[in-house]
Amino acid sequence: MENLKGIEEQALNAAAQAQTFDAVAKVRAEFLGKKGALGLALRSVSKLPVDERPKAGQEINAVKVRVEEALAKAQQAIEAQKREAELDKGRYDVTLPGRRTLQGYAHPLRIVEEEIIASLAPLGFTVAEGPLVEHDWYNFEALNIPADHPARDMQDTFFVAPHVVLRTHTSNVQIRTMVKQEPPVRILSPGMVFRHDDVDPTHSPVFHQVEGLWIDEQATFADLKGVLHKLAHDLFGPATKIRLRPSFFPFTEPSAEVDVSCVVCADGDTASCRVCSGTGWLEILGAGMVDPAVLSAVGYDTDKVQGFAFGMGVERIAMLRWGVDDIRLFYENDLRFLRQFSGAGRA
Ligand code: FA5
Repeated sequence: MENLKGIEEQALNAAAQAQTFDAVAKVRAEFLGKKGALGLALRSVSKLPVDERPKAGQEINAVKVRVEEALAKAQQAIEAQKREAELDKGRYDVTLPGRRTLQGYAHPLRIVEEEIIASLAPLGFTVAEGPLVEHDWYNFEALNIPADHPARDMQDTFFVAPHVVLRTHTSNVQIRTMVKQEPPVRILSPGMVFRHDDVDPTHSPVFHQVEGLWIDEQATFADLKGVLHKLAHDLFGPATKIRLRPSFFPFTEPSAEVDVSCVVCADGDTASCRVCSGTGWLEILGAGMVDPAVLSAVGYDTDKVQGFAFGMGVERIAMLRWGVDDIRLFYENDLRFLRQFSGAGRA
């Protein structure tokens, strides 16, 4: 115990002189370790007369605390020195601007898909989805397109197996929905579709559609026009006009191609507009009253219910909306292209 003062002095001196982490560790072991000077001193307390032990123990512990503090100080000083040295070496230039972390955002096709849904959901449409690999019956037969019928040529098909196809449109979902659900039906079916088309600026073998279906006792062609009107306004702006031209789809009768007034030359020179080829109109979707043959195929009573359907290509709408002149840009994942839509949809 007489030595305690001397041990403390030695330990504090050694701590003050330690210049490296290793040196600090060595001093700690030398004085605070089990076999270190203060460790041994603590153990020797038991050899003292009983009444002296508490005081001796307290004194030794107080020295231990002071030595610990001195070692912690030494450790901090070494760390600070190291930081200084690194800064001096110029490893960090604190004046450099920070690097921003990349933020993800919706793909332009997703933005359009979500806008279509957001436009029509308030009218009571809900989203329905179906398989990409589909049985012939749901993709063709039930939609009034029998095998060997020339209408199948309208959609060049990828066959996976006999009677199993990659769906050529999202119309399979209207069949799947009606087969399991009694009317009324009011659905939107967005998703990927596949056609054996050659790639060119406006065609891709994989693309996206959104289909709408409304079946009820009183769903009329006028309702269809109202729905399309709202959709065109929401997608292309309130000044947009729509035009319905007679057309043919095997699953609708009567059928129409639907055009919107050209988004580019609305207030300008239509004659020289390259987007609408001088017509003033852009085709955006197909539509019509659901053919009674389709309703019968899914077991609906055609005396009681009727309705309409419409289907559009998402890529086509996105191209018109933003003046994109090549469909391939949507699939190439070039960030320079995709970043331009960062403010256009939900993050
Ligand atoms: C159909 O697919 C019908 N199912 C749409 C429909 C639904 C009509 C309900 C009536 C009632 P169509 O084959 O025209 O129709 O294709 C719809 C849209 O898909 C086209 O207007 C076009 O925008 C887009 N499309 C077709 N083929 C391709 C392709 N290879 N690449 C990109 N878009 C395409």
